[in-house]
Amino acid sequence: MLHIDIVTLFPEMFAGPFSASIVARAAAADLVQIELHQLRDFAHDRHNRVDDEPFGGGPGMVLKAQPLLKAIEHVRATRTGLDPHVVLLSPQGKKLTHTRVAELSKERSLLLVCGHYEGIDQRFIDLAVDEEVSIGDYVLTGGEIPAMVLVDAITRLLPGALGDEQSAELDSFAPGLDALLQGPVYTRPPEVAGMQVPDVLLSGDHAQIERWRREQAVLRTRERRPELLEDWPE
Ligand code: ADE
Repeated sequence: MLHIDIVTLFPEMFAGPFSASIVARAAAADLVQIELHQLRDFAHDRHNRVDDEPFGGGPGMVLKAQPLLKAIEHVRATRTGLDPHVVLLSPQGKKLTHTRVAELSKERSLLLVCGHYEGIDQRFIDLAVDEEVSIGDYVLTGGEIPAMVLVDAITRLLPGALGDEQSAELDSFAPGLDALLQGPVYTRPPEVAGMQVPDVLLSGDHAQIERWRREQAVLRTRERRPELLEDWPE
Protein backbone atom coordinates (compact mmCIF):
# COMPACT_ATOMS: atom_id res chain seq x y z
CA MET A 1 0.00 0.00 0.00
CA LEU A 2 1.15 3.53 -0.79
CA HIS A 3 0.93 5.96 2.14
CA ILE A 4 0.37 9.58 1.15
CA ASP A 5 0.51 12.22 3.88
CA ILE A 6 -0.43 15.78 2.96
CA VAL A 7 0.49 18.84 5.01
CA THR A 8 -1.82 21.75 4.22
CA LEU A 9 -3.54 24.83 5.62
CA PHE A 10 -6.76 23.78 3.85
CA PRO A 11 -7.47 20.07 4.44
CA GLU A 12 -11.15 20.65 3.73
CA MET A 13 -10.33 21.34 0.05
CA PHE A 14 -9.47 17.67 -0.47
CA ALA A 15 -12.79 16.14 0.57
CA GLY A 16 -14.51 16.34 -2.83
CA PRO A 17 -11.77 15.03 -5.17
CA PHE A 18 -10.75 12.24 -2.79
CA SER A 19 -14.29 10.99 -2.11
CA ALA A 20 -15.24 10.12 -5.68
CA SER A 21 -14.23 7.89 -8.54
CA ILE A 22 -10.93 6.04 -8.84
CA VAL A 23 -9.11 7.64 -5.89
CA ALA A 24 -11.97 6.77 -3.51
CA ARG A 25 -12.10 3.20 -4.89
CA ALA A 26 -8.34 2.78 -4.54
CA ALA A 27 -8.50 4.00 -0.94
CA ALA A 28 -11.41 1.65 -0.15
CA ALA A 29 -9.38 -1.22 -1.66
CA ASP A 30 -6.35 -0.28 0.50
CA LEU A 31 -4.17 0.42 -2.55
CA VAL A 32 -3.55 3.89 -1.16
CA GLN A 33 -3.99 5.51 2.23
CA ILE A 34 -4.27 9.30 2.27
CA GLU A 35 -3.91 11.31 5.47
CA LEU A 36 -4.33 15.06 5.77
CA HIS A 37 -2.46 17.13 8.37
CA GLN A 38 -3.45 20.69 9.31
CA LEU A 39 -0.29 22.80 9.37
CA ARG A 40 -1.84 25.16 11.94
CA ASP A 41 -1.81 22.32 14.50
CA PHE A 42 2.00 22.56 14.49
CA ALA A 43 2.24 26.31 15.08
CA HIS A 44 3.18 26.66 18.72
CA ASP A 45 4.78 30.09 19.06
CA ARG A 46 3.14 32.84 21.12
CA HIS A 47 0.75 33.79 18.36
CA ASN A 48 0.26 30.37 16.71
CA ARG A 49 1.46 31.87 13.47
CA VAL A 50 2.27 29.83 10.39
CA ASP A 51 3.39 32.81 8.31
CA ASP A 52 5.29 36.06 8.69
CA GLU A 53 6.62 38.98 6.67
CA PRO A 54 9.58 38.36 4.36
CA PHE A 55 12.97 39.51 5.64
CA GLY A 56 14.22 42.25 3.32
CA GLY A 57 10.69 43.44 2.65
CA GLY A 58 8.38 42.85 -0.27
CA PRO A 59 4.76 41.86 -0.79
CA GLY A 60 2.93 38.94 0.76
CA MET A 61 3.74 36.54 3.54
CA VAL A 62 6.17 33.65 3.89
CA LEU A 63 5.39 30.29 5.53
CA LYS A 64 7.56 29.84 8.62
CA ALA A 65 10.04 26.97 8.78
CA GLN A 66 9.37 25.65 12.30
CA PRO A 67 5.68 24.61 11.98
CA LEU A 68 6.52 22.85 8.71
CA LEU A 69 9.52 21.08 10.29
CA LYS A 70 7.34 19.98 13.20
CA ALA A 71 4.65 18.68 10.85
CA ILE A 72 7.24 16.65 8.89
CA GLU A 73 8.70 15.30 12.12
CA HIS A 74 5.21 14.24 13.27
CA VAL A 75 4.49 12.41 10.01
CA ARG A 76 7.93 10.73 10.00
CA ALA A 77 7.26 9.45 13.53
CA THR A 78 4.05 7.77 12.35
CA ARG A 79 5.77 6.24 9.30
CA THR A 80 8.81 4.66 10.93
CA GLY A 81 10.74 2.45 8.56
CA LEU A 82 9.03 3.95 5.51
CA ASP A 83 11.25 7.04 5.16
CA PRO A 84 8.69 9.22 3.34
CA HIS A 85 9.81 10.98 0.17
CA VAL A 86 9.03 14.66 0.76
CA VAL A 87 7.58 16.60 -2.18
CA LEU A 88 6.88 20.33 -2.05
CA LEU A 89 4.31 21.56 -4.54
CA SER A 90 5.40 24.97 -5.78
CA PRO A 91 5.63 26.95 -9.01
CA GLN A 92 9.44 26.88 -8.56
CA GLY A 93 9.51 23.09 -8.90
CA LYS A 94 10.53 20.88 -11.77
CA LYS A 95 7.61 20.44 -14.16
CA LEU A 96 5.69 17.20 -13.56
CA THR A 97 5.76 14.56 -16.30
CA HIS A 98 4.12 11.17 -16.71
CA THR A 99 7.53 9.55 -16.32
CA ARG A 100 8.01 11.17 -12.91
CA VAL A 101 4.44 10.28 -11.86
CA ALA A 102 5.16 6.63 -12.72
CA GLU A 103 8.36 6.70 -10.66
CA LEU A 104 6.60 8.30 -7.68
CA SER A 105 3.84 5.66 -7.87
CA LYS A 106 6.48 3.07 -6.93
CA GLU A 107 7.37 4.77 -3.61
CA ARG A 108 6.00 3.33 -0.37
CA SER A 109 5.43 6.64 1.39
CA LEU A 110 5.00 10.17 0.04
CA LEU A 111 4.73 13.33 2.09
CA LEU A 112 3.26 16.20 0.11
CA VAL A 113 3.66 19.75 1.38
CA CYS A 114 1.35 22.40 -0.03
CA GLY A 115 3.02 25.78 -0.38
CA HIS A 116 1.16 29.05 0.05
CA TYR A 117 1.47 32.82 0.02
CA GLU A 118 4.63 34.32 -1.43
CA GLY A 119 6.58 31.19 -0.61
CA ILE A 120 8.22 29.09 2.08
CA ASP A 121 11.24 29.83 4.25
CA GLN A 122 14.17 28.40 2.26
CA ARG A 123 15.60 26.72 5.36
CA PHE A 124 12.64 24.35 5.52
CA ILE A 125 13.18 23.45 1.85
CA ASP A 126 16.91 22.89 2.38
CA LEU A 127 16.39 20.81 5.52
CA ALA A 128 13.37 18.69 4.75
CA VAL A 129 12.30 18.68 1.09
CA ASP A 130 13.56 15.97 -1.30
CA GLU A 131 11.95 17.37 -4.43
CA GLU A 132 10.02 20.45 -5.60
CA VAL A 133 7.29 19.79 -8.16
CA SER A 134 5.30 22.21 -10.32
CA ILE A 135 2.26 21.02 -12.28
CA GLY A 136 2.75 23.62 -15.01
CA ASP A 137 3.88 27.10 -15.94
CA TYR A 138 1.08 29.02 -14.27
CA VAL A 139 0.53 30.13 -10.71
CA LEU A 140 -2.27 28.79 -8.52
CA THR A 141 -3.36 30.16 -5.15
CA GLY A 142 -1.65 27.31 -3.32
CA GLY A 143 -0.23 23.81 -3.55
CA GLU A 144 -3.51 22.04 -2.70
CA ILE A 145 -4.86 21.59 -6.22
CA PRO A 146 -1.39 20.56 -7.49
CA ALA A 147 -1.25 17.97 -4.66
CA MET A 148 -4.65 16.64 -5.76
CA VAL A 149 -3.40 16.46 -9.34
CA LEU A 150 -0.34 14.52 -8.23
CA VAL A 151 -2.35 12.11 -6.03
CA ASP A 152 -4.85 11.50 -8.84
CA ALA A 153 -2.14 10.85 -11.44
CA ILE A 154 -0.21 8.52 -9.10
CA THR A 155 -3.24 6.61 -7.79
CA ARG A 156 -4.55 5.56 -11.19
CA LEU A 157 -1.17 3.92 -11.89
CA LEU A 158 -1.29 1.71 -8.78
CA PRO A 159 -1.79 -1.91 -9.83
CA GLY A 160 -5.51 -2.70 -9.61
CA ALA A 161 -6.70 0.93 -9.45
CA LEU A 162 -8.18 1.02 -12.95
CA GLY A 163 -10.90 -1.37 -14.07
CA ASP A 164 -10.04 -4.19 -16.51
CA GLU A 165 -11.41 -2.23 -19.41
CA GLN A 166 -9.01 0.65 -18.86
CA SER A 167 -5.29 0.43 -19.12
CA ALA A 168 -2.76 2.99 -17.99
CA GLU A 169 -0.32 1.47 -20.49
CA LEU A 170 -2.25 3.02 -23.38
CA ASP A 171 -2.10 6.54 -21.95
CA SER A 172 -0.94 9.54 -23.86
CA PHE A 173 2.51 10.40 -22.44
CA ALA A 174 3.23 6.85 -21.31
CA PRO A 175 7.02 6.58 -21.50
CA GLY A 176 8.69 5.08 -24.54
CA LEU A 177 7.25 4.80 -28.01
CA ASP A 178 3.74 5.55 -26.79
CA ALA A 179 4.54 9.13 -25.82
CA LEU A 180 1.88 10.34 -28.24
CA LEU A 181 -1.38 12.16 -27.77
CA GLN A 182 -4.40 9.92 -28.02
CA GLY A 183 -6.28 10.23 -31.32
CA PRO A 184 -10.05 10.70 -31.67
CA VAL A 185 -12.44 8.15 -30.16
CA TYR A 186 -16.13 7.51 -30.88
CA THR A 187 -19.05 5.64 -29.36
CA ARG A 188 -22.69 4.91 -30.27
CA PRO A 189 -24.65 6.05 -32.21
CA PRO A 190 -22.78 5.75 -35.56
CA GLU A 191 -24.24 9.08 -36.74
CA VAL A 192 -24.52 12.35 -34.76
CA ALA A 193 -25.83 15.54 -36.46
CA GLY A 194 -25.00 14.03 -39.85
CA MET A 195 -21.44 13.15 -38.82
CA GLN A 196 -20.32 9.55 -39.29
CA VAL A 197 -17.89 7.45 -37.32
CA PRO A 198 -14.84 6.71 -39.52
CA ASP A 199 -15.57 3.50 -41.50
CA VAL A 200 -12.41 1.76 -40.36
CA LEU A 201 -13.63 1.65 -36.74
CA LEU A 202 -16.73 -0.26 -37.84
CA SER A 203 -14.78 -2.63 -40.11
CA GLY A 204 -13.90 -5.23 -37.49
CA ASP A 205 -10.37 -5.42 -38.96
CA HIS A 206 -8.29 -5.06 -35.79
CA ALA A 207 -4.91 -4.74 -37.49
CA GLN A 208 -6.24 -1.94 -39.68
CA ILE A 209 -7.91 -0.25 -36.70
CA GLU A 210 -4.63 -0.35 -34.77
CA ARG A 211 -2.78 1.14 -37.75
CA TRP A 212 -5.40 3.91 -38.10
CA ARG A 213 -5.24 4.76 -34.39
CA ARG A 214 -1.46 5.02 -34.49
CA GLU A 215 -1.63 7.27 -37.61
CA GLN A 216 -4.21 9.52 -35.96
CA ALA A 217 -2.10 9.73 -32.80
CA VAL A 218 0.97 10.77 -34.79
CA LEU A 219 -1.03 13.34 -36.82
CA ARG A 220 -2.55 14.90 -33.73
CA THR A 221 0.76 14.95 -31.90
CA ARG A 222 2.54 16.54 -34.89
CA GLU A 223 -0.15 19.22 -35.08
CA ARG A 224 -0.60 20.02 -31.39
CA ARG A 225 2.58 18.98 -29.58
CA PRO A 226 5.38 18.59 -32.17
CA GLU A 227 8.02 18.74 -29.42
CA LEU A 228 6.84 15.32 -28.18
CA LEU A 229 8.02 13.78 -31.47
CA GLU A 230 11.51 15.25 -31.27
CA ASP A 231 12.93 12.55 -28.99
CA TRP A 232 11.65 9.75 -31.17
CA PRO A 233 14.03 7.15 -32.50
CA GLU A 234 13.61 7.16 -36.32
N1 ADE B 1 1.53 26.39 -6.30
C1 ADE B 1 1.11 27.45 -7.01
N2 ADE B 1 1.21 27.24 -8.32
C2 ADE B 1 1.70 25.96 -8.46
C3 ADE B 1 2.03 25.15 -9.59
N3 ADE B 1 1.88 25.58 -10.84
N4 ADE B 1 2.51 23.92 -9.36
C4 ADE B 1 2.68 23.47 -8.08
N5 ADE B 1 2.39 24.20 -7.00
C5 ADE B 1 1.91 25.45 -7.18
